[in-house]
Amino acid sequence: MPGQKSNEMWGGRFAEGPDCIMSSINASIGFDQRLAAQDIAGSQAHAQMLGVTGIISRADFEDIKVGLETVLKEIQSGTFVFSEGLEDIHMNVEVRLRELIGPAAGRLHTARSRNDQVATDFRLWVRDQLDAAESAISALMEALLEQAEKGAAWVMPGFTHLQSAQPVTWGHHMMAYVEMFSRDLGRVSDARRRMNESPLGAAALAGTSFPIDRDMTAEALGFDRPCANSLDAVSDRDFALEFLGLSSICAMHLSRLSEELVIWSTAQFRFVRLSDRFSTGSSIMPQKKNPDAAELIRAKIGRIMGANVALMTVMKGLALTYSKDMQEDKEPVFDAADNLFLALAAMTGMVKDMTALPETLRAAAGTGFATATDLADWLVREKGTAFRDAHHITGALVALAEEKDCELNDLTLSDMQSIDKQIDEGVYSVLTVENSIASRTSYGGTAPEQVRFQINRWKKILVK
Ligand code: ARG
Repeated sequence: MPGQKSNEMWGGRFAEGPDCIMSSINASIGFDQRLAAQDIAGSQAHAQMLGVTGIISRADFEDIKVGLETVLKEIQSGTFVFSEGLEDIHMNVEVRLRELIGPAAGRLHTARSRNDQVATDFRLWVRDQLDAAESAISALMEALLEQAEKGAAWVMPGFTHLQSAQPVTWGHHMMAYVEMFSRDLGRVSDARRRMNESPLGAAALAGTSFPIDRDMTAEALGFDRPCANSLDAVSDRDFALEFLGLSSICAMHLSRLSEELVIWSTAQFRFVRLSDRFSTGSSIMPQKKNPDAAELIRAKIGRIMGANVALMTVMKGLALTYSKDMQEDKEPVFDAADNLFLALAAMTGMVKDMTALPETLRAAAGTGFATATDLADWLVREKGTAFRDAHHITGALVALAEEKDCELNDLTLSDMQSIDKQIDEGVYSVLTVENSIASRTSYGGTAPEQVRFQINRWKKILVK
C-alpha cells in the first residue's frame, strides 16, 4: 500500500513515508492521549528550565509557555484534533505548538528525547493513580469500619474450608478486611515513595551535553529527585509493574469480599441483604435479586492481573534501554486503573448500603458444633486433660450429637459421661456461642472487647 509523506519530526533521512499498516501498528495516539496533561506539565517544566539556564531565550520560553497553555485548553475542551500520522501525544502536542507559536516550538525538544519524555509522563500518570488509590481504598476501609462498629458483638459462624469452625463476631470479620486493605494502602505508599524520581533530562539514553538542571525539573514536577542513571531512567517500567502488582493484590482482596457477599446474600445463608441500588433483577424469574456488582468486582481481578502479566511479559528479556515494545506498557495500565477504581467505588457503595441480619448470623453460629473447641479447652482447663486427648473425647461427643441429630449443648449429662466420666454440669457454660466469643480475649481475637479495641485504633487512624 502506498505510504504517506515522511514524518515531519524525524523525516530528514526518509525518502518515503510509512506504509498504512506501519502507521497503524506504530501509532499510540489512540490511547496515549490520556497522558496529555502530564505531557504538557513535563514540557512546561522542561521549557522553564531551558529558559532559566539560558539554553533557550527568555522570549522563546515565554512563547512556549503560553502556547502550551493553549494546547492544554484545546485538549481539555475537546477541540484539539489528534492525528495518527503524528504517532503519539508528544508529537501531536509539539506540532500543534508550532502551528500556534511558530519556530520557537522547535526549541522545546532541546536536551530531551521522547524516551525521557514518555517515561516522565507515564510516571506522573501512575503517581496520580497511586494518590487516587489511597483515597479510594481509605473510603472502603471507612465503610467497613462503620459496618464493624454496628455489629462489633453480633455473633456469626467463623469458617475454615467454608465449614463452620468457631463462632466469631461480625465486627471481627469486617475488621479482617480493614487489615487486608490497610496493607494495600501500605503498598501504595511504598510504591509511590520508590517511583517518585524524575526521568526528565535522561534524554534519549545517555544524558545530554547541554547544561540542564535536572533538580529544577524534578522539583517542578513534584518528584523527590532526578533518577540517578539515565539508562535506567528511560528503560525501566517497574513503577508501572508495582502499580499493577499492588492493584492485583487489592483486586484479589476485593474478589474475596465479593465472593462472601455473593454467598451471604443467598436465600440459604441470608447473612446480609444487599441494597437494591447494587443489585439487579432477572428478566424471567420475578423473585430474583442478583448480586451483580459483587460478581463483577469478583471478576475484575482477571483483567487487572492479566494486565500485570501482560506488561511483565512485554518487559522481560528487553535489552537496555528503550525499545518500541515499551509503547505496549500503557493500555494494560490504563485498563487496570479504570477497573480497579470502578471496583473500589462499587464495593464501597455496596458495603455502605448493605444490611447485616444479626438473627440469621446468630442462628447460623449455633449450628455445626461451633463450640467443640471450647469443649475441648474446658476439658484441658477444668479436668487437666491433655489437649490431644480432649480433642479425641470431643470428637466422640460430636459424633454422638451427629448420631442423635442435635447440637453439643443438647446432649444430656449422661450422654456426655458415657464418653468421658469426668464431665460435669459446668461444661454447659462453655457450649453457648456467646461464652465462646467472650472467651476469645487474646490479642487480635474475636471477643467483642478486642474487636472494639481494633475498631477504635483504626478510627483514630482513618477518620481524621
Ligand atoms: N510513543 C512512544 C512510547 O510510548 C514514545 C517514545 C518513542 N521513542 C522512540 N524512540 N521512538 O513508547
